[in-house]
Amino acid sequence: MVFPRFAVLAVALLAAACGGPAAGDQPKPGDGALVGVTMPTTKSERWISDGENIKRDLESRGHRVDLQYAENDVPTQVKQIEDQIAKGAKLLIIASVDGSALTKPLDTAANARIPVIAYDRLLRGSPNVDFYATFENFRVGVYQAESLLTGLGLRNPDASPGPAEGPFNIELFAGSADDNNAAFFFNGAMSVLKPYLDNGKLVVRSGQTEFQAVTTLRWDGETAGKRMEEILGTTYRRAKVNGVLSPYDGISLGILTALKNGGYGPEFPIVTGQDAELGSVKSIIAGQQYSTIYKDTRELAKATASMAEAVLKDRTPPQLNNLNDYDNGVKVVPAFLLNPVSVDKTNYHKVLVESGYYTDDQLR
Ligand code: BGC
Repeated sequence: MVFPRFAVLAVALLAAACGGPAAGDQPKPGDGALVGVTMPTTKSERWISDGENIKRDLESRGHRVDLQYAENDVPTQVKQIEDQIAKGAKLLIIASVDGSALTKPLDTAANARIPVIAYDRLLRGSPNVDFYATFENFRVGVYQAESLLTGLGLRNPDASPGPAEGPFNIELFAGSADDNNAAFFFNGAMSVLKPYLDNGKLVVRSGQTEFQAVTTLRWDGETAGKRMEEILGTTYRRAKVNGVLSPYDGISLGILTALKNGGYGPEFPIVTGQDAELGSVKSIIAGQQYSTIYKDTRELAKATASMAEAVLKDRTPPQLNNLNDYDNGVKVVPAFLLNPVSVDKTNYHKVLVESGYYTDDQLR
């Protein structure tokens, strides 16, 4: 939706950059609005924390929150958003199941002049999305690929060439094709891996290297595990796979199960991941999964709550730091991006425990 109040974004951004957040941003008791928050699934820890954190942060600002999980079902999410509009929500924060499937409820929101913030996943194919809060998604993929190279010994942690020569056999996995992030992660990773594939130090023996061939519907670990099993059965009867690019911890666990069933272990191929989910961090400590990408969802929730506050007050959020990269097919959505952090056995304690994300007890 083209809100006149956001039409002069560039001017507003300049003003925000000069003046910082306005004093009126402080919550006033009793002026709370109903905010509709929809998340994709409770099957993954990160979305549970995202939802809880946004709810807490908005409530501490005096707002009311309707928090819903769609359990990866598109019609459920459409209905949840329509219900929130009917209940009188003044703002919608949406982490979509399928980023292109919400154009209808977004039209309804626009007609009711309800602004929309896309949370973590871009909402595609609609003009009716005002802002976007996420992480540097391309960089997530770069970090995944760099850790794969480091694990294989082709690269040192300081980015200099590593001791190993290769060639190494790797396989590639991507996330759900209907999630805009999946291509960002994959393209980021391939930007790092391509030179090694070109010079033969890395080989994808299955031949499955195109994004469409390696996606995993709904990021489902079992689906990925089945694909890994098929590849092991057809391509690796006489050879070993040395590394697997995995875009998400749930997928990594599925891949590791397939590897175990295929006779791998106690030494495992280098398997990457994302989200620093508890099971995967334990797996990293146990020497099975090699790495993950930590995204501090507490920070994303905090930033989103503060963006929401500005939007509810008819202001352009001052945090926006990317006005170019997130074209949703209809418009470029102004975004706020946070930095991800690559985590493996060498730094998990510093990054995850010392920051208070996990306690030592949880990781035991
Ligand atoms: C998120 C990732 C997450 C994946 C699966 C993506 O949209 O950015 O953090 O691993 O969805 O839930």
